[in-house]
Amino acid sequence: MAPIKPTTQNASDLEGVIGVFDSGIGGLSVLKALRAEMPQERFIYWADSGFAPYGERTDDFVIARSHDITAKLLARGRLKALVVACNTATAVAIESLRAEYPLVPFIGVEPALKPALVQTQTGCVGVMGTQGTLNSSRFEKLLQTVQKDALPKQGHFVLQACKGLALAIEKQTEKSFNDTAEIAHLCAKYVQSMGSFGHATSQIDTLVLGCTHYIFVQDILQNLVGPEVQLLSTGEAVAKQTKRLITQANEVPLAHSHSSESEKIELWTTGALSSLQSAALRWLGLPPELCHQATTQSLSPP
Ligand code: DGL
Repeated sequence: MAPIKPTTQNASDLEGVIGVFDSGIGGLSVLKALRAEMPQERFIYWADSGFAPYGERTDDFVIARSHDITAKLLARGRLKALVVACNTATAVAIESLRAEYPLVPFIGVEPALKPALVQTQTGCVGVMGTQGTLNSSRFEKLLQTVQKDALPKQGHFVLQACKGLALAIEKQTEKSFNDTAEIAHLCAKYVQSMGSFGHATSQIDTLVLGCTHYIFVQDILQNLVGPEVQLLSTGEAVAKQTKRLITQANEVPLAHSHSSESEKIELWTTGALSSLQSAALRWLGLPPELCHQATTQSLSPP
């Protein structure tokens, strides 16, 4: 593949930008919340769709991809923060990223177990995530901590690894928007295997979306579990945490309020450019020219 030619900015222009990455388009849900929280900030988004799904790969693979992406983004400039907008990459790679880049403020995403336990009435919480996330030791620790902190309240978490769902959501952006047959089939299968949903004793009344891709199928999931079940995701909380962190780190915030809309964001993908363009337009209303094709080699400055 040919080296990348960024079309909008040169390397030094990316000083102070907020980086965001995911295995694919799922992190766009986090990017949307980040932009809503900090409209004056500039962002660079990396969709690693050419290597998705992360949730069904080995830890070593996800760690290697996360380091590669981080190195390429940092080669473009000193980022203000780097948001790992992927539960799977956060679960398996964020510790080694922090160890290698101690000066970079990394913000990860984790399934919203704590808010779920606070708000459940039946004490039964469903958690949908990737195999990588739910099998990780970081998730295990999170589960233990949340349970311990909630005592004497006790929660029962029903964990559901949703093999194939993130990939189906990725693939759907290449198809017609209404072609949701595979997604609907997978959602129905996983919802059914979690058990009964509702407000009666021992029914699941709260469903945690533990993968950033799943928010894009929340209407399908809500239909399946019923309107009274609360669906929880983490985009807004992560956006608020990112804002807090960068405000603390920069006494004089590096705002870019005079940048035009197109100068404020660029998006890259290692997968099909048309898919990212379609997802960015569909979910964030961003025009196709803001999306670029990344190669496996580099995201080189011009
Ligand atoms: N969106 C990602 C997450 O939050 C990963 C999905 C995948 O690539 O398996 O876990």
